[in-house]
Amino acid sequence: MVMHFLSVWDFTRDEIYKIVSLTENIKDGSIDVKGVLEGKIMGMIFEKPSTRTRVSFEVAMKQLGGDAIYLPTSSLQVSRGESIKDTAKVLSRYLDILMARVYRHETLVELARYSDIPVINGLSDLEHPVQIISDFYTIYEHFGRLYGLKISYIGDSDNNVARSLAIGCAQLGLELSIASPEKYSISREFLDEIFEKVPGSEKLIKVYEDPYEAVRDADVIYTDTFVSMGMESEAEERLKTFLPRYQVTMDLLRSTGKDTVFMHCLPAHRGHEVTDEVIDSEYSIVYDQAENRLHTQKTIILYLMGYL
Ligand code: CP
Ligand code: NVA
Repeated sequence: MVMHFLSVWDFTRDEIYKIVSLTENIKDGSIDVKGVLEGKIMGMIFEKPSTRTRVSFEVAMKQLGGDAIYLPTSSLQVSRGESIKDTAKVLSRYLDILMARVYRHETLVELARYSDIPVINGLSDLEHPVQIISDFYTIYEHFGRLYGLKISYIGDSDNNVARSLAIGCAQLGLELSIASPEKYSISREFLDEIFEKVPGSEKLIKVYEDPYEAVRDADVIYTDTFVSMGMESEAEERLKTFLPRYQVTMDLLRSTGKDTVFMHCLPAHRGHEVTDEVIDSEYSIVYDQAENRLHTQKTIILYLMGYL
């Protein structure tokens, strides 16, 4: 059976812990993975721009001894109407693993359905699972544990990053407090699905409108853009709704009553969801977070390909 990674749900709680722990070993070199993927090639389909996801996957493949091919959809025949089914079937004959960043999550599901090789979600409108698994590693690296920590997500929680974070926190039993304007809050149906799948998680995930209430006792404050890729036409209205209340400021960070760290998946829109002062402060771990994408991608690739 081919294993895909389209959603945080695709990994069990034990698998997430395993990926986090293996990433620690891969990063510190105690598991030597150099060259293990010699001759193996990843295809990287991109419908949207990317800095971290593209470069970390490509570098990961090269450092593992393999290679990667960048496939922007504008250069593929899908842009002229070739079906996802035929694309998946053909690419499966050339490649060993596929990663895709798409607008519609359904495109990934379709790719995976017809693909004989693992398919990884490199971000869709629904989820950003590789980001969140990597972020759990970063949190573990910083605090030396995951259990018992409280994460607070401020901003647009009706987006891919927040949804993957919510699933992950439920799976791992971490407290998650979310603060968003009502219009851009994670949907009730999405939360109900989590609460149904993970009994007890309704006690862990709380939704607020007031950021100050949400960040109380938080170990981590996490935010993301107010205007995700594909939402550019809504930018003006969104900024009006989010600002200034949902900006992560030094005052918000200091109000937690703890040594709280700041995280952001990046790219950041400085002056919108976060101030320069916060992202450039000693509390910010955003560059460790970005670096760890590379180490975690290696673990995810090797795990899905059956090497770990
Ligand atoms: N965080 C993240 O996925 O960044 P990119 O859009 O640069 O890949
Ligand atoms: N929510 C953002 C994440 C970028 C990595 C977006 O979809 O644009």
